[in-house]
Amino acid sequence: MTTRPEIVFEPLSADLEPTVVVLAGDDIALASRARELDQKSGGALTKAAEAAQYKGRKKSTLEVLAPPRLGGVNRAILLGTGKGSDLKENDWVLLGGTAAAAIGARKVKSASFIVEAPESGGTKPAELAALLAFGANLRHYEFSKYLTKTAKPEDDASEADGLKKLVIHCADPDKARNVYGRYAAVANGTMTARDLVNEPANALGPVEFADRVKELESTGLEVEILDEAQLADLKMGSLLAVAQGSVRPARVAIMQWHGAKSKRAKPIMLVGKGVVFDTGGISIKPAAGMEDMKGDMGGAAAVVGTMQALAERKANANVIGIIGLVENMPSGTAIRPGDIVRAHSGQTVEILNTDAEGRLVLVDLISYVQERFKPRLIIDLATLTGAIMVALGKEYAGLFANDDKLAADLLDASNATGEKLWRMPLDKGYDKMLESKNADIKNIGGRWAGSCTAAAFIKYFVKDTPWAHLDIAGTAMDAPKSEISPSWGAGWGVRLLDRYISDNHEKAEK
Ligand code: BES
Ligand code: MN
Ligand code: ZN
Repeated sequence: MTTRPEIVFEPLSADLEPTVVVLAGDDIALASRARELDQKSGGALTKAAEAAQYKGRKKSTLEVLAPPRLGGVNRAILLGTGKGSDLKENDWVLLGGTAAAAIGARKVKSASFIVEAPESGGTKPAELAALLAFGANLRHYEFSKYLTKTAKPEDDASEADGLKKLVIHCADPDKARNVYGRYAAVANGTMTARDLVNEPANALGPVEFADRVKELESTGLEVEILDEAQLADLKMGSLLAVAQGSVRPARVAIMQWHGAKSKRAKPIMLVGKGVVFDTGGISIKPAAGMEDMKGDMGGAAAVVGTMQALAERKANANVIGIIGLVENMPSGTAIRPGDIVRAHSGQTVEILNTDAEGRLVLVDLISYVQERFKPRLIIDLATLTGAIMVALGKEYAGLFANDDKLAADLLDASNATGEKLWRMPLDKGYDKMLESKNADIKNIGGRWAGSCTAAAFIKYFVKDTPWAHLDIAGTAMDAPKSEISPSWGAGWGVRLLDRYISDNHEKAEK
């Protein structure tokens, strides 16, 4: 849906496009190819830097127009790395995003990016080129399919439009292209997640969402869609209770990827909340800001995007994704506060607030997959509570886990990718807050610790499986824009989950 540039890798010596980005370190140290350009132009780059008092500080840019004697090159953009040896993996990704923004703002059709850093810390050159290309790729996104007028040139929204081709010049283009392959898959998955979150709910109901998932069979994923009759046969009474107020029927989508050596090795299970729109139901939400609830399927979007990335890069692991697709509406057929429903596990739930619907969807999926797939571990993602934003704002997603190793591994992946997690508590005290007089459990815990009681509710349905719950209400949508994330629908979680899987479940099984 977004016009994204083709990214190609060429040797450092290859011909340059008219617009060139070069990296400049602290006090404008230039790497050899950039120094060569500088010398050829009679020091135009370093002179311009001096005149502008440009020091090559991290993420700062300086544009040098019409440098003399450089043939077809008519614009050089210096991009500061600061002290390159200080930069970590994700800093290079962010720099790639900054480069893409600088190029995009110039509305050129093609550009060269000379990826040879004056200092690059521990990052190897091919890896560096791939990381910068990854960042540039992630930056190029816009959700413009419903704009019938062409965006005005001064409009930020058209930034992603112009560039058709980005040439990455680096020392070992074959190797860089190879490393980049897997990042390209992760970027594709992130774009899919963004598209799903941004799509309005009138266009993306449970059925349409399931259709989109089905299309991913082309990547090699095995996709199974369960319809309402099948969900009723499976006795998913808690999930179906949420769906019953909507004229649009529920769906559950299951995506399987068996890339491990042993196809029968226990799978990793990813579970996503896919509430295509959350009005709150009979416990209806206030009007202000309700439009954001088109993004209440951000967990499902992250699961779908991750599964796509794993399939595209042919991950060496067995991973199954499952998402519950429903719409939470108030109507004559909707659930009421006080209703008691029977979940797939057989346990009863007293629904005291119909706006605490996400957990009702998740627990039926979790009970079902424990029984059917016997997963080695479960990670669920859900835009579950407003309370997580009260606690962590939009910087961090909340991480709840019944297993310290799983929590630690997820935190490591979080540090590597910059998709930030903060561990939150599970506690018997929160379990107690969910005790109901009339049923086995109630779906809300009262005024305090709303994210913790939501997690405690899910935990009630988890058996002996290592499990982590990520509350992504703050990060999945309307999160602060960054160098690599220009979109309302952030696509949050795809990079994190992909990294968690590759670092912890692929190496040993090769
Ligand atoms: N989808 C919402 C949580 C949410 C709120 C996500 C704002 C993103 C932005 C969830 O279904 C919900 O309504 N949670 C309630 C729970 C309460 C009724 C116990 C909440 O957080 O207020
Ligand atoms: Mn709700
Ligand atoms: Zn919700």
